[in-house]
Amino acid sequence: MNSLISFLFATLTFATLLLAEEGFNFITIGDWGRTRTAGVPNKQDDVARQMDVWARENNAEFVLTLGDNFYPDGVFSADDEQFETKWRNVYLNPYPSLRVEWKISLGNHDHRVFTGHYQVEFGKTEPLWELPSFNYTFTKTFGDTSVFFVVVDSDSLYWLVNDTLNEQVSWLDETLEQASADWVIVAAHHPVYSSGHHGSDFGMIDDVRPILLKHNVDFYLAGHEHDLQHLNGPPGDSIEYVISGGGGASARPQNEIAVEDLKDMNVTQKMFNSINGFTGIKVKQNSITVEYVDLEGTMFYSFTKYKN
Ligand SMILES: *[C@@H]1O[C@H](CO)[C@@H](O)[C@H](O)[C@H]1NC(C)=O
Ligand SMILES: *[C@@H]1O[C@H](CO)[C@@H](O)[C@H](O)[C@H]1NC(C)=O
Ligand SMILES: *[C@@H]1O[C@H](CO)[C@@H](O)[C@H](O)[C@H]1NC(C)=O
Repeated sequence: MNSLISFLFATLTFATLLLAEEGFNFITIGDWGRTRTAGVPNKQDDVARQMDVWARENNAEFVLTLGDNFYPDGVFSADDEQFETKWRNVYLNPYPSLRVEWKISLGNHDHRVFTGHYQVEFGKTEPLWELPSFNYTFTKTFGDTSVFFVVVDSDSLYWLVNDTLNEQVSWLDETLEQASADWVIVAAHHPVYSSGHHGSDFGMIDDVRPILLKHNVDFYLAGHEHDLQHLNGPPGDSIEYVISGGGGASARPQNEIAVEDLKDMNVTQKMFNSINGFTGIKVKQNSITVEYVDLEGTMFYSFTKYKN
């Protein structure tokens, strides 16, 4: 009996230690809600299958989307059937592991005919669809550690969907100014740096990147390019630039002009892969690891950012 009690006690102490050490894991996908032919599986389904495997193995707490949730033109009402055909039926219904909160970013296709607000409206009745407004923030904490997420509506920045450039940029600046979290992650649809189909976004480089640098943002997550990338900015820029745009839309090759642009800007391309897939992100107190996973479930690349 005594040994059972001491075993239980030891287990409990160990569990408490683990709890203090623990963190959380989440998945990011961009460019995913493909046009479908009823009953015909596509790359989006293949990515979903591997997301399920990762989510189960790593107990994913949420999915963060990086925009282009519904091709080709977004949704047309808060009860558009695309919420079923391209979201629930692909991820939530087949896979209990993906019945977690979905933190949503909007992309250019979501805003294409100015109907992005229907995705906000949908979130008011669907608890797993988290999109309180086009741009928003949320914080995750564990132990003494806090992680601050800022979701920017990058389409508003340049296409004036619901805003002027200056308002969204000032909002980002003020929001980051007030942030006191241990880790800061900014998510949006449009990348800053990229060697993919669209290449680097010079507007983002001029207007948004200085704010990210000023506030020591740790990660900038984007989609838009139908590929997976990891980039580091010029010397002195410690932001990790992640592109996770492999959610389902046809993968696109690297753009040689954009590769040259990166060289001219002294940006380092750590990894480029023109494939479908997703990233799984593991957050701990002193480190964040980004795992890039392909359609076969192979983690073909990963990196870790450390902090004291
Ligand atoms: C559109 O912009 C206005 C003013 O900035 C803001 O109050 C409103 O919440 C925005 N709408 C959405 C859906 O984000
Ligand atoms: C979104 O950004 C606008 C400025 O573009 C800001 O006025 C608004 O408060 C932001 N929304 C949220 C929920 O923070
Ligand atoms: C890139 O690095 C080279 C060599 O250090 C330097 O001359 C050049 O000014 C840098 N370019 C930019 C855009 O930072």
